[in-house]
Amino acid sequence: MSPALVTRLYQGTPHNLRMLGARLRRGELVAAPTETVYGLAGDAMNVAACEAIFAAKERPANDPLIVHVRQRAEAKKLTRWNDAAEAVARAFWPGPLTMVLPKREHVPDIVTSGRPSVAIRMPQHPLFRKLLAAADRPLAAPSANPFGYISPTTAQHVKASLGGRIRSILDGGPCAIGIESTIVDLRDPAHPTVLRPGAITADQLSRVLGVTVRAPKVNTVSHSQAADAPGMLERHYSPSTPLTLHDTLPGYTGTREARVYFHRADLSGSNEYSLSTDGSGESAARRMFAMLRELDAGDWSHIHLERVPREDPWAPSVNDRLRRAAARSS
Ligand code: TXA
Ligand code: MG
Repeated sequence: MSPALVTRLYQGTPHNLRMLGARLRRGELVAAPTETVYGLAGDAMNVAACEAIFAAKERPANDPLIVHVRQRAEAKKLTRWNDAAEAVARAFWPGPLTMVLPKREHVPDIVTSGRPSVAIRMPQHPLFRKLLAAADRPLAAPSANPFGYISPTTAQHVKASLGGRIRSILDGGPCAIGIESTIVDLRDPAHPTVLRPGAITADQLSRVLGVTVRAPKVNTVSHSQAADAPGMLERHYSPSTPLTLHDTLPGYTGTREARVYFHRADLSGSNEYSLSTDGSGESAARRMFAMLRELDAGDWSHIHLERVPREDPWAPSVNDRLRRAAARSS
């Protein structure tokens, strides 16, 4: 590992954005907010910059990166675009939606881990868009956390776990959505499949595409199989404190055990928390990763947490993250 860097937070002033854009053009990494989570951005066309992303995250080389673009025209230059992609882009871009499409020749193999496909997204966050404009090139950006740990939804989260490994963090405050983008595989437009659930649901995609979009399989895969199903690792987003999920919390748990209700206004014990502020899955999504980090930093021997109720439209995406966070390492 190279010597530690001094990590600084930058506000999104025009001066700072110009400077961070120049750093990206030189091949440096910049962590920056998107509407979903913070990303660790580097020039997608620069192999050394992409290598630095994998190194900073300690991410296995077989787990490909998402390329972020500012305009649809850029996406068309990087992929073999099709009608389904056009429809999805018109409906959901800019926004929390990533498409997997066949890649064009000039997309570096390191970005796609050698696959013939590339994941591409046009984010909505105004600061990330300004950073794309300042860099004036597509940016590869995985979530800005060490591989397998909880995704970051504030600049402070990024600094806490990648501090010393990167120089620059663009601070845009907390992310509005709080969980990563929906990933939809559109390589075969007749059979679109959601690879990772997110804010845009399979039903919303089905309506736009006029075909039934398959939802992700609940079964996940072991690390050795991950080459065929990247991003579907069973254990991910993991706190070090053991975590158990419940439909309804058990009546009693030990005093050093944190109890997280999905939504409860009258909390009694100092070990009680409410994941959602207003009973919506949407607010649970926004707070989930920050709460897991906070609880993981506390002195708890165990975390008990209620799932998002099945009938909530956010249940598939939030419960997917919670299930992986609760999975034991094998
Ligand atoms: O919301 C988001 O998507 C955030 C922000 C920063 O944009 N990014 C993000 O990136 O979540 P990351 O690297 O943490 O997750 C990207 C997922 C990985 O699980 C990867 O395996 C999958 O996308 N992926 C990337 N390229 C792929 C491809 N060609 N085919 C299938 N899956 C792919
Ligand atoms: Mg990630």
